[in-house]
Amino acid sequence: MLFVCLGNICRSPMAEGALRAAALHRGLDCHVDSAGTASYHIGSRPDDRAIAVARANGVEIASHAARQIEHEDFYRFSHIVALDRANLEGIKARAPRDGTARVSLLLDATEGGLGQSVVDPYHGSLDDFATAWMTIAAGIEALVDQLLGEGYSATG
Ligand code: 4NP
Repeated sequence: MLFVCLGNICRSPMAEGALRAAALHRGLDCHVDSAGTASYHIGSRPDDRAIAVARANGVEIASHAARQIEHEDFYRFSHIVALDRANLEGIKARAPRDGTARVSLLLDATEGGLGQSVVDPYHGSLDDFATAWMTIAAGIEALVDQLLGEGYSATG
């Protein structure tokens, strides 16, 4: 499972951390990573506010180093999940014709969330990061429900 936002320092590292925690908790066996469509922050650790909000929710994301989505990702991952619509379009524009990953939007899995984006908190406050975390966490729960419902590789 690969989560993708713009910079890979705010939303997608939070989604990666939230899925790692949820997968452990709910017995889903999956490989999780995140990337950005943009290159500005390659090698950077997540934004301090994202780290703080994740930590407040019991999830550690500080060791992630930002990277840009790459060609191989479309074959290595079964699912590529965009955090917003602009990046969904960016991912689709890069997708090789024979790529095997299923590309989707995180909030599509949630009740009433079809086509909705997780608002970018980068230019906002710590509260905006907390709101993004809650939105992402709801998306992750719905995604795990969907994957388990599809019989997707439970642990054990
Ligand atoms: P992210 O947030 O896409 O959730 O990681 C952003 C990070 C950096 C920038 C924009 C959004 N930026 O413009 O540098």
